[in-house]
Amino acid sequence: MDHSGVGDPEVNIESMRHPYKAPSEAFTEDQLVAREPIAQFRDWFDQASRTPGILEPNAMCLSTASADGAPSGRFVLLKGFGRDGFRFFTNYGSRKAADLDANPRAALTFYWEALNRSVRVEGAVRRLPADVSDAYFHSRPLASQIGAALFRQSATIADRGQLERREAELRQLHPEQGPPVPRPDWGGYIVEPRQVEFWQGQSTRIHDRIRFRRPVDGDDDDPRVRRGDDGWVLERLAP
Ligand SMILES: Cc1cc2nc3c(=O)[nH]c(=O)nc-3n(C[C@H](O)[C@H](O)[C@H](O)COP(=O)(O)O)c2cc1C
Repeated sequence: MDHSGVGDPEVNIESMRHPYKAPSEAFTEDQLVAREPIAQFRDWFDQASRTPGILEPNAMCLSTASADGAPSGRFVLLKGFGRDGFRFFTNYGSRKAADLDANPRAALTFYWEALNRSVRVEGAVRRLPADVSDAYFHSRPLASQIGAALFRQSATIADRGQLERREAELRQLHPEQGPPVPRPDWGGYIVEPRQVEFWQGQSTRIHDRIRFRRPVDGDDDDPRVRRGDDGWVLERLAP
């Protein structure tokens, strides 16, 4: 990698630093509510949902990589989770969908600032069955259904007017109580986690990181790796 020719930044924010008021003492393995990541995620997600100032606890950065390995990230909304994985919905013609067609693996990153917490999920991605996508699509408000049906997401368009004309057209075809908007090339994905990391920021800056992952050869002989439930192991990572 070439490091030459990079001097001071034009805008220097090196001293911008927020002192964490840690909500807990050190986050130790004893404070886990479960020895597997889904129930642990549920506990942290419930706390984030009840925390004033966290308006969209289900907003997460979805990272994908293209066929040639170029990464990209964007926010999407988590729409359900459980032992089978973490679900979100999007347009199947979008840039992220093209990435997932070529390379069906993804990372999800949550940041709950008011709690000084982050969760990272990594795993394989599958499309949800069409009936699941149909049911969710038609449960959304009409404006969201029309928004999803305007154009293929991530397509280049001429201007905002093009969107507004198409919206007016669809509103005429599909008034409230009128014929339903057909589901466009849009639907759900599920990320089946192989790794889930829980990060708790600490005021001391000695942050806690506990990672759940699927076992590999040698784990049984490694005293740093603890056996969890449901086929998971857990370990502490350096901050
Ligand atoms: C908080 C937030 C939530 C979002 N939720 C979704 C979502 O659930 N699904 C979606 O397709 N786009 C969502 N978006 C828009 C995406 O970030 C992105 O603009 C869009 O999906 C196109 O991404 P792509 O071109 O990389 O495919 C959201 C944006 C923000 C800021």
